[in-house]
Amino acid sequence: MQTAEIRRRFLEHFATRGHTVVPSASLVSPDPSLLFTVAGMVPFIPYLTGREPAPFPRATSVQKCVRTLDIEEVGKTTRHGTFFQMNGNFSFGDYFKDGAIQHAWELLTGSVADGGLGFDPERLWVTVYLDDDEAADAWHRIAGLPVERIQRLGKKDNYWHTGAAGPGGPCSEIYYDRGPEFGPEGGPLVDTAGDRFLEIWNLVFMQYELTDVRSKEEFTVVGELPNKNIDTGMGLERVAFLLQGVDNMYEIDEVAPVLRRAAELAGVAYGKDHEADVRLRVVADHVRSGLMLIGDGITPGNEGRGYILRRLLRRAVRSMKLLGVEDAALPELLPVSRDAMSASYPELATDFDRISSVAYAEEEAFRRTLTSGTALFDTAVAQAKKAGTPALSGEQAFSLHDTYGFPIDVTLEMAAEQGVTVDEEGFRALMTEQRDRARADARAKRTGSVDVLAYRRLLAEHGPTDWQAYETLRTDSRVLGVVTEGDDDAAPRPVGPGEITRVVLDRTPFYAESGGQVADAGILTWDGGRAEVIDVQRPVKGLVAHQVRILEGELREGAELTAEVDREWRLSACQAHSGTHVVHAALRQVLGPQALQSGSYNRPGYLRLDFAWQGALTAQQRTDIEDVANAAVRADHAVSASWMTLPEAREFGALALFGETYGEQVRVVEIGGPWSRELCGGTHVRGSAQIGTLALTGESSVGSGSRRVEAVVGLEGFRYLARERDLVRQLAELLKTPQDGLVERVGGMLSRLRDVDRELAELRSRQNLAAAGELAAGARDVGGVAVVTGAPSGLGGGDLRTLALDVRGRLGDRPAVVLLASESGGKVALVAALNPAALAQGLSANDVLKAAAGPVGGRGGGKADVAQGGGTDAAGIPDALQAGEQAVAAATGR
Ligand code: ALA
Repeated sequence: MQTAEIRRRFLEHFATRGHTVVPSASLVSPDPSLLFTVAGMVPFIPYLTGREPAPFPRATSVQKCVRTLDIEEVGKTTRHGTFFQMNGNFSFGDYFKDGAIQHAWELLTGSVADGGLGFDPERLWVTVYLDDDEAADAWHRIAGLPVERIQRLGKKDNYWHTGAAGPGGPCSEIYYDRGPEFGPEGGPLVDTAGDRFLEIWNLVFMQYELTDVRSKEEFTVVGELPNKNIDTGMGLERVAFLLQGVDNMYEIDEVAPVLRRAAELAGVAYGKDHEADVRLRVVADHVRSGLMLIGDGITPGNEGRGYILRRLLRRAVRSMKLLGVEDAALPELLPVSRDAMSASYPELATDFDRISSVAYAEEEAFRRTLTSGTALFDTAVAQAKKAGTPALSGEQAFSLHDTYGFPIDVTLEMAAEQGVTVDEEGFRALMTEQRDRARADARAKRTGSVDVLAYRRLLAEHGPTDWQAYETLRTDSRVLGVVTEGDDDAAPRPVGPGEITRVVLDRTPFYAESGGQVADAGILTWDGGRAEVIDVQRPVKGLVAHQVRILEGELREGAELTAEVDREWRLSACQAHSGTHVVHAALRQVLGPQALQSGSYNRPGYLRLDFAWQGALTAQQRTDIEDVANAAVRADHAVSASWMTLPEAREFGALALFGETYGEQVRVVEIGGPWSRELCGGTHVRGSAQIGTLALTGESSVGSGSRRVEAVVGLEGFRYLARERDLVRQLAELLKTPQDGLVERVGGMLSRLRDVDRELAELRSRQNLAAAGELAAGARDVGGVAVVTGAPSGLGGGDLRTLALDVRGRLGDRPAVVLLASESGGKVALVAALNPAALAQGLSANDVLKAAAGPVGGRGGGKADVAQGGGTDAAGIPDALQAGEQAVAAATGR
């Protein structure tokens, strides 16, 4: 089955089951916390978290995705593609585990003639999360899977999130058994290599909000999402390779043509030599990914998305070279990939002039780089030989890789030709270091891998930045380097108005983000120009880099300028940071010394602080903490900082916070002497009265044994209190009550509301009782069966079921069928109920309900005597009742 046909069947399957078909979003992630769209759910994150109301209760899509964490695995396994397509169905608070399992099972095992994918049910296995009995039970009950093919795995396999803070939840994965030739018996639990039991579909039961996501298995659950949602992902390429009877995803119809063309150009036969095969697969995968990324507007560069695109294209070009192809390869391969992909993505054909010129230019640039890199390589080899140690160091290999984009296998091969060895281990160590740094950076800054080479060079050349953030708000400085994303480091250029770039100065008054305090804002001014400072970081130890937006003029290396921190900003930042220390001390005074801070964040006007504590704070504790903090503010304690060694600081009683690292000399910040002593590199007010107002705005859980308090300070604190006061005034006016009578008044209203609710429920049940009598009286005879159909208004599933059972009870011992439908809150509830005499005639509530569900655009099921379901189209209710009645007529042979 062609890939395009699988995608068509998938979308149709879900469209006919009430899902809105949503076109693929761009590969550039619509969610700012992710570099690329990594899963089908990414465009739906606002609906999953409940930040925005979902415009539809169910959706389905085939989403373009890119994941590059496993780039080294490409070509070696059957299933690692940097670009892939994820077929998904989504429910936003509509159906949950049962629905997801039923939909997936029907599509997978449905016959090809009926629009299904025709998988043999005997070869399907599933996994569920350790304690998810509900999902395990549903697999058994709905799909009829034997329990031995329902296995349980932990967080690594059966818990899913995007890798960043956001929605997540336990999941259930469906596997296809490729047969004994691919590995041992025992299911996915045993087959950790994943070659025999291939995961094809992941059903995620999205019901939690996660934060502090550190890895697949380490994260903090903040709480429940407003809805229980479904997010599923079926790997289109994986299903395609199974249904096309080929061995891996590189051989499917959308990828294989590039692989074949590459083999032809290289004059090799695919399938003969393992190493050549891996290279051909890398080429096929990377060329397609390059095509799709450029198609979505990404251009090659040195940072973030651009860097990843560059890496993919260069790896493809290099692999062709290693296969012996000397000429430019992309002009031969890219059009082949376009032809294979444009059935699904026609814009690739219409936009191909632009796409191809970007790709071909990158290949040209890399070929030139290869030439200069080769010169560097030759010099390094000559030096090594002269020194009598015919070996290239790990650093040299790394520099060739990092600066010139030489993959290590190129360096190894070239070195071998020269009779020189390479310290591969040293190279790998540096690579790991870089990758860890990139990951940490991606986590911290939510960008991709950042090339720190330029900063290391600046540090080596000029030494550390003269950092004057503690002393002054203004310095005369010189520009040592301008580092712009997407530029080659080798060719610095002046940057002009509107551009964003990073600037390294010889000295600076700007505070770089650290220790929970955000970076300073301010302005750089020079003769003929100005730039606004938007972020300040230390990309390498000792060096401060300012991210700036040029407002006027051009900024170039060597320029003399004035660097000036925004005075108001800094004052507010100091208020927030000193406020954090005050809140910490107040917490420990009120709760005891075990309430130790585990993390903090502060920006002008706002602070939050996480600390070790079991259970929520009481209202009294919160008031006490606020009182102690504000008393310290009023006392105007002196704030001072001094330097000492770590042992001295400990002796001094300063609090060193867990997980932070300190150098030889540490800085201790005191507020009111011993009242608050903390190790801290931040900026602070001079006296605590400068903090102004301090108001706690929230207290919440951030995982077990850890709480978070939030507060506003200074002008923000004042505004917050003013808003609260205004709210109380408005409420008092609205309720025509004096302010101190508000609580009593609202309490009285709530208790009256509860009474009214109770009365309403009683009224409704009396009405239902009456309705039951009327409905039962209207029973008609259909082939010897008493049939009651009816559409009472405004009842949900539970009430409707009660009514149906009541009516059934009134119909006596003759065979009787009751079918009721009701619209409430935009949804249609359906219930069919049969009595034992009807069952004895071979009738089934399930059949009646199924017949009725179609016209209201719904589904449902249950037992033979009572079945329940729902739909969305109320206009179809009369037809639904008629269809149900006809089903009875048909079953009774009339
Ligand atoms: N979002 C889930 C995944 O990517 C379905 O596996």
